[in-house]
Amino acid sequence: MTTKENILQRLQDTEDYLSGEQLSEELGVSRAAVWKAIQSLRDAGYQIDSATNRGYRLLALPDLLTEAEIRAGLHTKTLGSKIVCLAETDSTNEEAKRQALRGAPDGSVFTAEQQTGGKGRLGRRWEQPEGTGVWFSVLLRPGLIPSEVGNITLLAGIAVCRAIRSLTGCEAKIKWPNDVVIGSRKVCGILTEMAAEVDRIEYMVLGIGINANIPVFPESLAEKATSLQIETGRTVSRAKLLQAVLWELEGLLTPENYSCLTPAVLHEYQMLCVSIGRRVGFYQGKIQKTGTAVGVSSTGELLVNTDDGRQTAVNAGEVVVQGIYGQTLPQ
Ligand code: BTN
Repeated sequence: MTTKENILQRLQDTEDYLSGEQLSEELGVSRAAVWKAIQSLRDAGYQIDSATNRGYRLLALPDLLTEAEIRAGLHTKTLGSKIVCLAETDSTNEEAKRQALRGAPDGSVFTAEQQTGGKGRLGRRWEQPEGTGVWFSVLLRPGLIPSEVGNITLLAGIAVCRAIRSLTGCEAKIKWPNDVVIGSRKVCGILTEMAAEVDRIEYMVLGIGINANIPVFPESLAEKATSLQIETGRTVSRAKLLQAVLWELEGLLTPENYSCLTPAVLHEYQMLCVSIGRRVGFYQGKIQKTGTAVGVSSTGELLVNTDDGRQTAVNAGEVVVQGIYGQTLPQ
């Protein structure tokens, strides 16, 4: 064990203060080394009080996502077959891909406290705001072909909505295809990646970022982004939130839903989708189109009555929705 681990162990075992002198004698290290280890524990989120002539006392543990905490209360069969919780990584999607190549099983989950290169849709960056989010990726090996898994991100959106609603009571909804919003602001983004040949999916990585315990957003994002803490005024258990998402996801990820939503799931998606009934704007090739979204097909396309009098099924790309993220469209 390192000095830091030893000191943490001693602080956890003792209710009273432990003096720096006592710790340095017991562990055979200098007082400066004790002080440095205490600082490093504080940096990692441990709340440690220090009192003159008394020493150090552990007040609170950091709010960290750990495998043990996630497993306790997780009732899934496959999702969470392996759980890896990292302090920092470039992107949990990238970590999942690396582990997939090393044979990690279907349902493996990778979380990180910090992502140094979080990835968003359409090649964008996923900004990591101050505070603690639930950033994770699920590795899936569905045994299907690429044309059979078109609805994966829609299903993930439903799973996140259900989890947020049941844990916080917030009316989470979906901006097609899979941004989860509360009111007009985004609370969760989903990025699905895949390694496949035409007739075989090697693996898929479903990356989900939920703005959980983020107290405030920088001005540049405040109109577009929100968090569960901002919406409810309190912090949520990130482990419980993750458990709930995995539970809901496992129930939704059936082979039939993957390619063609069952009537019940399609109905639920339509009820959750904020884009329906609003004016929307999108590109068809290089042509910009506007219209009103009127529904979603069982294969996941957004159905739009365009202003040129036709109906278009939009299946990819960015769709601007009137009133969401502060965006407006000509009437
Ligand atoms: C988007 O809305 O553009 C998608 C954002 C997806 C962010 C999550 S956070 C966990 C996982 N790791 C990543 O690098 N991205 C996804």
